[in-house]
Amino acid sequence: MQTIVIVDPETDFLEWAAHQLKTPTTAVLTASRADEAYKLYFAQEADLLITETHLQPFSGLELLAKVRQKDPNAMVVLTSAFGTTQSVIESMKLGAYDFIRKESLPFNLKVVVDAALKAQSEMRNATAFKPQLTVDQHQDSIVGQSEAMQQVFKMVGRVSHSDAPVMITGESGSGKELVARAIHHYSRRSEQFFVAINCAAIPETLLESELFGHEKGSFTGAVTQRVGRFEQSNGGTLFLDEIGEMPMPVQSKILRVLQEGEFSRLGSNVTLRTDVRIVAATNKNLEQEIARKHFREDLFYRLNVVRIHLPPLRQRVEDVRLLCEYFLAKISLQKHLPRVHLSEEALKVMEAYPWPGNVRELENTLQRASVMTTTDVLLPKDLPLGQIGVGNTGNEDGDAAVETAGPKPGDSVAAGPLGIAPAFNIQAAIELLFRAAAEDHSLQLLPWLEREFTIAAMKQTRGNQLKAAKILGVTRATLRKRIERFGITRELNIQ
Ligand SMILES: Nc1ncnc2c1ncn2[C@@H]1O[C@H](COP(=O)(O)OP(=O)(O)OP(=O)(O)O)[C@@H](O)[C@H]1O
Ligand SMILES: [Mg+2]
Repeated sequence: MQTIVIVDPETDFLEWAAHQLKTPTTAVLTASRADEAYKLYFAQEADLLITETHLQPFSGLELLAKVRQKDPNAMVVLTSAFGTTQSVIESMKLGAYDFIRKESLPFNLKVVVDAALKAQSEMRNATAFKPQLTVDQHQDSIVGQSEAMQQVFKMVGRVSHSDAPVMITGESGSGKELVARAIHHYSRRSEQFFVAINCAAIPETLLESELFGHEKGSFTGAVTQRVGRFEQSNGGTLFLDEIGEMPMPVQSKILRVLQEGEFSRLGSNVTLRTDVRIVAATNKNLEQEIARKHFREDLFYRLNVVRIHLPPLRQRVEDVRLLCEYFLAKISLQKHLPRVHLSEEALKVMEAYPWPGNVRELENTLQRASVMTTTDVLLPKDLPLGQIGVGNTGNEDGDAAVETAGPKPGDSVAAGPLGIAPAFNIQAAIELLFRAAAEDHSLQLLPWLEREFTIAAMKQTRGNQLKAAKILGVTRATLRKRIERFGITRELNIQ
C-alpha cells in the first residue's frame, strides 16, 4: 500500500484529486493547511506529498523545504495556478520531484504521481544497502589483528566523523567494499542510504543516467523520468566502486558534484543540490591511469583527500588464522553445516599460500572445503587451493562487459548455490539490463550483448581470435562471422 498526502486550501480540488488518485493499493489523505500536511506526512510515513504553493500558515515551498530537511528523500510535487519562474526554480532547487500548473493537472496528475511513486519505491529499495548488522556484529565482521589492518580500522574511525571523500585502494577481494560500508556505518550518515554503484559493471551509455538520472525524453528511449544515484543517496554515502573504469566525460561531472555539490539530470538545465559523501574504490593504479590520460588528475586529487590502502592478504599472514576461524564459524551457521576446524598442518598450508584473490578467495576455499569434507577436521588434502576462480580478480585489463555479464554458459550452475561462484551478482546484472531495455525500446538485448561480449573478448585478448573464441565458447569461424556481422574491427583498433 502506498500513501499520498495532498494539501490544498480548496476542498473541491482535494475531492477531485483524491478521486483521481485513489486505487486499491494507493491511499490518499488530504489536508487544507501546511502544518497539518507536515504532521500527516510523517505520521502516516507517506510516500508522496502533493502541495499547492499558496498555503497557510506557511507556503508550499516552505513545506517542501521542511519536509525534505527531515526526510532528504521525500518525494514532493508542487502545484500552482500561477507557477512563476521563481517558484518553479526554487522548488526544483529544494528538491521537488515536479511542478505542475493547475491548468494541466487533469492531463498530468496521474502520470506524474505514478512516476513519482515508482521513483520513491526504487529509492526505498535502496534500503537494502543499509547495513543489516548491529555495531557490535559489524565490528566483528571486519576481521584483522595485523598491524596493517589495525591502521585501516583507525583510519575508518578518523574519517567517519568528517564528510571528506575517501579513496580505498587494494587488490581484488581485499575488503574494499567492506571498508566503505564500515565508513558509512560509523558516520553521522548511518541512518541514511549507502548506495553502491559499480562503474565497471554498467555500460558507458547508461552510467551517466544511472548516476545523475534523466528527464523524460532526454534521449531516445528515456520514456520516463529517472532519479539517479546521486539523488537516491542524498544525505547518505555514495560508493563509487571501480572508479578507475569511469569514462572521462562522467569524471568531469563527478568533479562538478565534488566541487559545487551540484548536478543536473540528463536533459535538464535545472541544477540540483546534493549532500552526498563519496567513497571511491579501485584496484587500479590511478597515478598510472593519469599518466595514460585515462583518469583526470584534478578528480584524483579531489577524491584522494583521504586514502585507505588495504594490503593484500599475503602481506598480513598473521590474519589468516583469525579469518579462517571467522569464516568457518560463519559458514557453518549460514549454510547449516556441521562446524569444522583446520588442522595445524592445513593452517600452515593456508598461511603459506599467496592468495591472489585475497580474502574472497580464502572464504571461497573454506566454503568449498566445508561442503566437501566428510570429517570435522580439514587436512591439507581437503583444501582446494588455487582451484577456485578468484572471482573478479585484480586484472588491470579486466573488461566491464565480461564482468557484468557473468560466467560463461554452464560455468555457474553447480557453483552458484554454494556461493563459490564469482563474486558478482548475476541477478542484479540481469535486472539492470532488463531495466535498460525497458527504457530504451530500440535496444535489442541479446544481439547487443553478443556484440558487447565479442568486443570485450577481443579487447581482453588484444585481438587474438583463437583466445577470444575460447573465452566466448564459440569456434574461430563463428567469431570471425560475428566480427564481420557486427562490423566491430574499427572500434577495436585492431585488424
Ligand atoms: N577483513 C575482512 N574480514 C572479514 N571478511 C572480509 C575481510 N575482507 C574481505 N572480507 C570478505 O571478503 C569478500 C570480498 O571483500 P570485498 O567485496 O569488500 O572486496 P573488494 O576489495 O571490494 O573486492 P573487488 O575489488 O573484487 O570488488 C567479502 O565477502 C567480504 O565480506
Ligand atoms: Mg568490490
